[in-house]
Amino acid sequence: MDKIQQVQESALQAIQDANDLETLNQVRLQYLSKKGSIQALMSEMKTLPKEEKPEFGSKVNVCKQLVTEAIDAKQQELEEGALFANLENEKIDITLPATQVKLGTVHPLMIIQQEIEHLFIGMGYTIAEGPEVEEDYYNFELANIPKDHPARDMQDTFYIDPNTLLRTHTTAMQMRELEKAKGQAPIKLICPGKVYRRDDDDATHSHQFMQSEGLVVAENITLADLKGTLEHMANAMFGSGRTIRFRPSYFPFTEPSVEVDVSCPFCNGKGCNVCKGSGWIEILGAGMVHPHVLEMNGFDPEKYSGFAFGVGLERVAMLKYGIDDIRNFYINDQRFLKNFDRFD
Ligand code: DAH
Repeated sequence: MDKIQQVQESALQAIQDANDLETLNQVRLQYLSKKGSIQALMSEMKTLPKEEKPEFGSKVNVCKQLVTEAIDAKQQELEEGALFANLENEKIDITLPATQVKLGTVHPLMIIQQEIEHLFIGMGYTIAEGPEVEEDYYNFELANIPKDHPARDMQDTFYIDPNTLLRTHTTAMQMRELEKAKGQAPIKLICPGKVYRRDDDDATHSHQFMQSEGLVVAENITLADLKGTLEHMANAMFGSGRTIRFRPSYFPFTEPSVEVDVSCPFCNGKGCNVCKGSGWIEILGAGMVHPHVLEMNGFDPEKYSGFAFGVGLERVAMLKYGIDDIRNFYINDQRFLKNFDRFD
């Protein structure tokens, strides 16, 4: 009986002293395994006189149960301790200042392009695309600018070979779309994209810039439709209250052709240094699609008419954001670009 008491006490002491799961496991093996001390006590029972066996047996069982419960309790305690220690170690101090993740920004020209796309999609237009490396045929011939036409000089062209060039205007895409339609109207689309000219770069010229073409062809399209559409665009882009005016101009692919001015958004048309005192700012070229262009593209000019316009995106962005040097759009200076960070 003393031995049982001894084993029990030493087991409970060992359990109490175990400070980690590994040691506790050793204790479990030492006392509770088949070769452990408690099993050894059980074996001793054989040597006892019959009348002592029941009491001895029940004492050993009580001892075994006590030790088992103590080990289980200690195991749970140690496991929880380990969990809390881990939680403590892995704790993230969310009050520490974080390193700032620098996100890219939408380029100002893309902001303008997206605004225009949104606006025209809202009026039922679709968006067309075309190649930047273009055939002379679409850039010039179909636009009513044959080889000897003086208008070719107005657009200093990057030629790749005599029939291939970098498109000088988005009007090339207008021609592709007209041809593709095979005489079927209505057509209602815009084509934004990059264009190229052999200009020397300075504050107002860039050898690469962006335009968006607009084109509508259907029955009974008039100059009044063009004017209403562009007035809507001017108000959407430069704020409500804008008016526009048409000045006669010349483009080979439109007849009549107009240069379009918007009332100066800076002085409301009173005259300031941005509009050079005139109250008006030129924003784009436009006109009624030339009957010969319709004809060359398979449309009956007696039945169909259309309007077209070409707007320079840099020009719109410069006016809208007060940018005075077009080169800013292309040198990728972070100090410039971050002004357009919508997440700031
Ligand atoms: N293609 C002309 C340019 O680059 C702009 C233009 C003028 C486009 C009149 C048009 C238009 O569609 O009708 O200067």
